[in-house]
Amino acid sequence: MNNFSFHNPTKIIFGEGQISALAKLLPVDARILFTYGGGSIKKNGVYDQVIKALAGKTFFEFSGIEPNPHYETVLKAVEIAKGKKIDFLLAVGGGSVIDATKLIAAAINFAGEPWDILAKNSPIKSALPIGCVLTLPATGTESNGNSVITKFSTHEKLAFGNSLVYPQFAILDPTTTYTLPPRQIANGVVDAFVHIMEQYLTYPVNAKVQDRFAEGLLLTLIEEGPKVLTQPNDYAIRANIMWAATMALNGLIGVGVPQDWATHALGHEITALHGLDHAQTLAIVLPTLMSQQRTTKREKLIQYGKRVWGLTNSDEEKLIDVAIAETKNFFEKMGAPTTFSGYGIKDSLTSTLIEKLIQHNSLPIGEHRDITAEVATKILTAAA
Ligand code: NZQ
Ligand code: ZN
Repeated sequence: MNNFSFHNPTKIIFGEGQISALAKLLPVDARILFTYGGGSIKKNGVYDQVIKALAGKTFFEFSGIEPNPHYETVLKAVEIAKGKKIDFLLAVGGGSVIDATKLIAAAINFAGEPWDILAKNSPIKSALPIGCVLTLPATGTESNGNSVITKFSTHEKLAFGNSLVYPQFAILDPTTTYTLPPRQIANGVVDAFVHIMEQYLTYPVNAKVQDRFAEGLLLTLIEEGPKVLTQPNDYAIRANIMWAATMALNGLIGVGVPQDWATHALGHEITALHGLDHAQTLAIVLPTLMSQQRTTKREKLIQYGKRVWGLTNSDEEKLIDVAIAETKNFFEKMGAPTTFSGYGIKDSLTSTLIEKLIQHNSLPIGEHRDITAEVATKILTAAA
């Protein structure tokens, strides 16, 4: 196991009815900007619960944060927050709302063009405090310091990470997820699954705790994920999915182990170019990446096949083939196609995708930094 330090400052408040806890969690004299998306929270009662909990507080609303949130929208919110002298941000929604709110928090006191925080890794000295109510279990952003933002004008999708933007608290009420459409249910399960794989499917460093946690989370998603589609109002299933997605990317399983993140790097470029949902891009890339990297990931692929899929093949090559096939089947079963053509994309524009990766200084990627332009091309071509 590699050396590490671990500190996750986000307080989690989990369970049915917990949105009412907002009243106590928010600072008494705060001037709050309540941020949300395109209106799902108005249809499922979450908005009303938040408004009730905000009674007596000074707050303003900023709505319309889109999926794959736009930098341009963030800038509008920053102007409003400055004008209203906001000192606390409350994000209510999925990963996009929370990610956008993190950039609002960081941009408010940033001297210069806030896009540099993402594009040039420019340091930030402070950020407004954030609290959140999560309605879509997927990204883990509710208790991590990451944010992914799209500049609409240039179709660039970039990420930044900073400990200053960890939410102070995250309310996770599984009943808020009952209204998710099947596509977003699939997205959430696939995204969380791939977050675990990015931190698990590399090479062994004898990190037994991290491996067993990761395998437990993968099994939870495999067992419970498909059930959400047929039993959408089952609280226990929703609760297990929600907690698994948070645990997948709150830093715990990634400490002291090598990490990959190549599937995400390729996926972000696919979203920027083709507009596919984040998790859809991961469902396309991961299986072919597993095949392409089967030599360097060999030991972990065998461990994954045996422990997660219960495979017993004595022929290890065959076992790896089946482990990859099972992964693909699982994504498909959730409702996420695993090829470009599955989304009606006839030409994946591989060379443009690779150029974008080069432009963003993303290559080489992977835990061994061995995914070069040539290897990435093979991975994307195999996913046609
Ligand atoms: O905008 P509204 O009307 O709220 O509707 C949303 C949106 O259309 C809807 N939705 C959310 N909760 C709902 C609901 N509909 C019905 N009932 C509910 N309870 O779902 C749609 C998608 O929402 P979005 O927030 O975009 O989805 P998700 O949570 O999957 O977030 C995706 C974004 O997070 C980034 C992705 O790249 C993408 O931009 N990621 C962030 C990460 C992080 N910060 O750590 C890591 C991830 O790997 C990922 O890159
Ligand atoms: Zn992701």
